[in-house]
Amino acid sequence: MAEQINPWSSTPKMDINRLIADFGIEPFAPVKEKIADQPVFIRRDIVAGHRGYDAVADAIVQKKPFHVLTGFMPSGHPHFGHLMVMKEVVWHIQQGGKGFISMADREAHAVRGLSWDACDRYAREYMECLYALGFSGEIYSQRRNNALKDLAFEAATKVNFSELSAIYGFGPETELAHAVSVSMQVADILYPQLVAGVAPTVVPVGIDQDPHIRLTRDITNALRMFLVEDRGTHISIRVKNAPEGALDAVAKRFCGAKKYEGHIDLPAGHTADEVDAVVREVERAFGGFGFLLPSATYHSFLQGLQGGKMSSSVPDSLVWFDDPDKDVKKKIMGALTGGRQTLEEQKKLGGEPEKCSIYQLNRFHMQDDDKELAGMCRACKAGELMCGTCKKETLERVRNFLREFREKRDEVAHMVEW
Ligand code: TRP
Repeated sequence: MAEQINPWSSTPKMDINRLIADFGIEPFAPVKEKIADQPVFIRRDIVAGHRGYDAVADAIVQKKPFHVLTGFMPSGHPHFGHLMVMKEVVWHIQQGGKGFISMADREAHAVRGLSWDACDRYAREYMECLYALGFSGEIYSQRRNNALKDLAFEAATKVNFSELSAIYGFGPETELAHAVSVSMQVADILYPQLVAGVAPTVVPVGIDQDPHIRLTRDITNALRMFLVEDRGTHISIRVKNAPEGALDAVAKRFCGAKKYEGHIDLPAGHTADEVDAVVREVERAFGGFGFLLPSATYHSFLQGLQGGKMSSSVPDSLVWFDDPDKDVKKKIMGALTGGRQTLEEQKKLGGEPEKCSIYQLNRFHMQDDDKELAGMCRACKAGELMCGTCKKETLERVRNFLREFREKRDEVAHMVEW
């Protein structure tokens, strides 16, 4: 049976290839070819899977409008584990996307029990980090966003408790506010299309967030008034839930449309996408949303410095952006590596960078130069580069990064407001 993904669990044990097979997530490799100038997370296959990313890749290539949105639960200080998703958002904005960030204070309050004040304090830190990395666009707090709350309510009309228990394992003991926070996240993902126009939307997330993406895509379909299908010989437009007059309005938009009770057939010569775009316009004219299915990218997780997962409950597993220098040193120098038991063995057999938290830290964030990274990998495997030296060099890079990052954070701190 397919393993369930629980986005709120602290120990998601996930094999990305199995998830691709079990849940119908698409592997990223084929769509990767469309991107000419690939950032680190694409060219090094850190982004491993996606849903519907072709629409976004095409928008990038054709310089058409698209949106990028992700969310952060402000339930603790931001740390290195958040850096990937932040970089993905910023990169998409640089490619022409309109940027949005949800500060998921309602989720933090409902699921983690944080006070609103604490949410605001942590949210501020996330916002500084995002601006320091070059974010521009809209950052909002869920609880202060009325349009979002209305959209969440509308989305909630399309989901029932048996679906929530099938997707998230919710039971009779689950608080209603937890379920409401799910509809908030669905609304987050659709929000850019509500306020900035219907367009492909990419949601960069860790693979643990896929249940939310699946649910949102289901709800997006459920919110549609019509179903457009390519039947080979013709295009069929079928009413799902449309008000009086909407079907006539659709029929008027096409020559040669044959209208029946509850559906229209169009002769060949149109693509389903073209027809769907017109139908979505009519939906909006009749008070609907006409949203496009949102897309997502899934990145693999940066391994913790102690070998397992990065987790705020294991303080030495990760570096916080605000860690004092001595803690950064202790964590990096004490990290679990892919080195051997003894120096002799390491010289003879070489290290194992695939298993090494320090190598992975370089691969994700600390070494953007592919030649340098390949050199490091080769020297490690050949038994020429010892862990002590490698850690020292990495610590230097981490310190430089943190120094610049903190300077930038100070410079942008004034931009943070609700
Ligand atoms: N649930 C996400 C988390 O646990 C945060 C989040 C809220 C989010 N809204 C979102 C992520 C919208 C992506 C898109 O971190």
